[in-house]
Formats: sequence, C-alpha cells, structure tokens
Amino acid sequence: MNLLAELRRRFAQALEKLDNEAISAAQWEELARLVLPCQHPRFGDYQANLAMPLARQLRRPPAEIARQLGELADVSPWCLPPEVTAQGFINLRVSDERLAALLHDLLPDERLGVPLAAPPLSYVIDYSAPNVAKPMHVGHIRSTVIGDALYRTLKFLGHRVIGDNHLGDWGTQFGMIIYGYRHFRDPQAYARQPVAELGRLYRLVNQLIEHEEACAQLPELKRRAAATKQSLEQAEAALRAVPPTDSAGQKRAAAVRRKCEAALAAAEAELAEARARIQAVESDPQLASLAAAHPQIGAAVLAETARLHAGDPENVRLWREFLPACRAEIDRIYARLGVRFDVTLGESFYHDRLPQVVDELLARGIAQHSEGAVCAFVPDMPAPMIVRKRDGAFLYATTDLATIQYRMEAWSPDVILYVVDHRQSEHFRLLFAVARRWGYQQVALHHLSFGTVLGEDGRPFRTRSGDTVGLESLLDEAVARAYRIVCENDDQKPDGPELSEEERRQVAETVGIGAIKYADLSQHRTSDYVFSYEKMLATKGNTATYMQYAYARVRSIFRKGGEQPEAIRALAPPIMITSPAERALALLLVRFPEALADVVEDFCPNKLTAYLWELANSFSTFFEECPVLRAPTTELRQSRLALCDLTARVIRRGLDLLGIGVCEKM
Ligand code: ARG
Repeated sequence: MNLLAELRRRFAQALEKLDNEAISAAQWEELARLVLPCQHPRFGDYQANLAMPLARQLRRPPAEIARQLGELADVSPWCLPPEVTAQGFINLRVSDERLAALLHDLLPDERLGVPLAAPPLSYVIDYSAPNVAKPMHVGHIRSTVIGDALYRTLKFLGHRVIGDNHLGDWGTQFGMIIYGYRHFRDPQAYARQPVAELGRLYRLVNQLIEHEEACAQLPELKRRAAATKQSLEQAEAALRAVPPTDSAGQKRAAAVRRKCEAALAAAEAELAEARARIQAVESDPQLASLAAAHPQIGAAVLAETARLHAGDPENVRLWREFLPACRAEIDRIYARLGVRFDVTLGESFYHDRLPQVVDELLARGIAQHSEGAVCAFVPDMPAPMIVRKRDGAFLYATTDLATIQYRMEAWSPDVILYVVDHRQSEHFRLLFAVARRWGYQQVALHHLSFGTVLGEDGRPFRTRSGDTVGLESLLDEAVARAYRIVCENDDQKPDGPELSEEERRQVAETVGIGAIKYADLSQHRTSDYVFSYEKMLATKGNTATYMQYAYARVRSIFRKGGEQPEAIRALAPPIMITSPAERALALLLVRFPEALADVVEDFCPNKLTAYLWELANSFSTFFEECPVLRAPTTELRQSRLALCDLTARVIRRGLDLLGIGVCEKM
C-alpha cells in the first residue's frame, strides 16, 4: 500500500464532503497533492498543507478550514487524530500500532507493499541506442543506465513495457568504415579481431575527416581570432579614453572589454583546437601522407553512405558483414551491465519505410517542397523539420517519424519515453510537434533528457589524450578498484578473511559496476555530474557500495545468530516499536512504494537512490542503538530480526530496480 497516496485519497474525499461550490472536482486531487511527507519528524510523519491555498480561495481563516478538513478526512485507519496548527497546517502521525501492523503485513509480501498500477499503461522506452561501428564510450552510460532503471521500475509497478534499442546502425559511421575498409584495412588484423580493426578504421577515417575540416576552417578561424583581437584593442582604447571621474562610463566600457576578452578567448580556443587537429595528423608522417593521398575524404565518405542507402550491392554486403561483429561487441557490454532489451530495431530497420513517410506527409499537407528539399513546417517552431534533403537523402528525423508510426502500429503504447541527451532537445520538440500534426495525438511522447558526464576538471570526461573514454575500460577500472577495496575490507575482518579469491572477484564485479551505475542514477538526470571513482566507491556516503554493505551486514547478522530469514518471515512475529530509531526505520520501510511512485512521476531514478540512502542511514542508526541478536527478550529479538530482514529485502529490491546487484558476503 502507498500510504501517502491513501492519505491523499482521504483528503480528496474530504474536499468533496466540504461541499463548497467554489472548489471544482478537478481541484480535489490537485489540492490533495499538498499532503506531503513531513520534513521534521517532530511535526509528524505527513503534513497536509492544503488549507492555506483554500483559505485564500474561500476567504476564510486557514485554521478554520484545516480544522474542518481534519475532521472530514478519515485517516483513522492509519493515523492518530490529526493535529491542526494555528497557521492551518494539518499534522498527521501514523500510530505505532498501525505501523507495526503494516510492517507485519509486509513480512510475507514479495512485493514489499508495492501496489500494482491500476490501470496499467503500456510504455515503449527508447534507450541506449549507440551508434554502432564505433566503440561505446562514457557518453553511452547515462541513456543505458537510466533507461534500464526506468524499464525495471515501470515493469515492477505492473505496466506493460517494451524496451527498444534504437541502434544507430545506418548512419555516416558506416560510410566511414566502408571507406576505411576499402582503403586502409589490415587484412590480418581484420581476420583476427574484426571489431578492433573496424574500430581502428573508424578512428582513422574520423581523424582524417577532422583534419580536412580543420584545414578548411583554418583561414576563417584565423580571421575571426584577429578580428576579435582588434575589437579587444579598440575596447581597451575606449576604456582608457573614459575620464576617471565618469564611473558609469568606466563601468560600461569595462563591460565591453570583458565581452571582447571572452570572445577572443573563445575564438582562440577554437583556433587552437583546429591547429591541434591538424598537428595531430601532420606530425605523424604516415598519417600526413594518408591525408595527402585522400583529399576530399569527407565527401567520399558521404558518397559511400549514400551508396549504401541506395542499395549498392557491394556496400550493402559490407554492411551486412560488419554489423554482426559490431553488435556482438556492444552485446558483450550489455551482458556485463546486465542490461537487456525486448527489441533492437535500429535505424536500418526503418529504411524502407522512409519514402512512404515523406509521401504521406506531403499528401496530408504536413510537409512541403522547399528549395528542392521536403520540409515539415510547424507553427511556433523556429525551423522546419527537413525530412528529405535536396539530394534525396532521408534524415535522422525522418527515421524517427517512421519509428513512431511503426511503434504505434505494432504496440499502440500509451507513452513513449526517449532517454537521450540534452543536446537533442530541439530535435525531439520538433519531432513531437510533427508527430502530433501527423495524427499521433493520443500517445504521450516524452524526451527524458540528461546532462553530461564530466571529468574532475569540470569538462566533458575525456582521456588524457583528449579521446572519449571507452565504456569498457571504465568498467574495468571501476572493477579493479573495487577489487582492492573488497580485499582490504576482507583482510581487516576481526575473525580473518571470509572470501575466497573467486568470491572476491565476483564481489568486485558487482561492486564496481554497481558503483558506476549508482553514481549516475543518484544524480538528477538533467544535471551534469563529475565522474569520480573515489566518490562512487566510497564505503560511506550515498553510493551503491554503502547500500551493498548494509545489505551484506544484515546477511551477516543472520549468519552470526544462526537465523534463517525465511523462518522469521514464516514466523511473522509481532513487530515491536520501542524506540525512535526503530520507529524511524519502520516508517521508511513502509514508504518504499512512495519512492517508486516518485520515480515514475517524472522519470527520475534519483528519487529511489535518495530513499535508499535514507533507509540505509536509518538502518545504521537503528543498528547502533538497538541490539538485535542480544535484544533483551526473544520477542524483541524476533521483531528486530524482522526489521533487519525487511531492510535487506527493500535494499535488494531497490537496487535491483536500478539494475544493481548485491552480495551475500562482502
Ligand atoms: N543514435 C542516436 C545518437 O547516438 C540516439 C538515438 C536516440 N533515439 C531516437 N529515437 N532518436 O545520438
């Protein structure tokens, strides 16, 4: 049972009973949402804050309304009689007796009190979706991990969920490796390790294209740097010319100078980056000669991609040859991450549907011919969506339209969630607007945007040489560090180490991967965050490691006491609430369903990590203050063991919904 939801329901009913024409039925639920968990336990467990806005609306004193609502809302099944303050707050406290009974009911409950959604909805989640043919990198963590956590949580809540990995398996990167394969491949390396060789070819071609682009941009970048430098000199001269007595003028001129300084810094940074790209190729004689031998490589690569899309048999054959190897590579990473999809329908799957999509948009007047291209115009959008280029090529957006059409036909979902980074916000705004005009009004379309993973320097996370960080090396490093922590911890155990070498390795894998996932999920998804192995593996703090230790600690209590969790569950002892620490833990255990409801409300898994963190802390206080195995009476020992067991189960289930494992011993 979701206690908060029940209390809200009771208050919505109270509003109905209030029978005041001024409050519309639509308002009942909305106002009832002002029943919230209490910030300070001394006021109670929950607080209903709806009297104040109502008082304004009805022009009556808040305390009076609060008193009336307090009487009308029947919270007696769970709470003591509400306490109304002079300001109009209604404080609610769960009675200890009810709390004990609620926990008692949880003991045999596999779902730990979490109700099934009624009615269940059907969701498609579009997540991970890397562009294959290049190795997965740090940027792919977020979509993969956030999407997976939402998938698991929605499913546990009883919704119908389809996880769809919309792979980028048809884009320019294939033009790049086809070109690379034709011109630069090392046949022996390809025979031995095709994916590694394709990765090398991808990076090589990419580097040559970047070199070419940088060379082309260089004159303009130089010109811009010189011009901004000149502006700065002028701004400085202007500043010197302002008489010292004119402080307003000084300020204005100084502001202009600062702006010019910033512009110069930006222009110089861009110029430096272009120079670095050129330098990287030209300082290496082999690369330099390749660059010289392949002028116009950018255009040539585009032509390879176009030939693939046009069905050129040789390019299609190569694509068919490369794809399984690329897929195997990412599948290995998914297996290690414990992430799976119901379907993997990449961009290539939609290729045949694109001409019809464009025809249909044209026929319905949603798209028009414009300067040789086909564009869908949407009122109030700054730019139209191009669905077919002048050269006849279709675009990423066209594929996304075809994808919506297919998903609606195949699954008619109520909701489609796109877990894609914030740089694509514009794309999705436009996509959703066009989809609506096309007739997809019923389905809810949400772009779940997320921020960037940063390095310790506060800039997008890169290797020392400036490359993006490969996902696999990240996992390896986290696991290696976890291994050291696990060994250290095990070696320091008072009765000597407990874990075999193999167990240590297994624990390290669970802890290392869990740390990376948790560090990501515990941030609000829209914020950027700094990637730090140290922080994510800290044994104290809001980390997976801390939760995993809390779990293992409960398991060790049971082992030490010679107790079986199953036996305690079957015994279902009465729960005794004898101290504030016990009560705080008990209340949190009952509130697990609320945390999950919060996660799916705005699709933020950090609501669950925050809850788990609170739970683990509360458990730690409980464990310090309330002896379990040495409890004064057998009844209390059993009750406390039951609390321990419930804590472990909620942590295990909570972590599982985040895609994170636990270990029996650590
Ligand atoms: N492959 C794309 C990229 O790496 C992400 C795809 C997201 N999903 C979608 N339906 N557009 O940028």
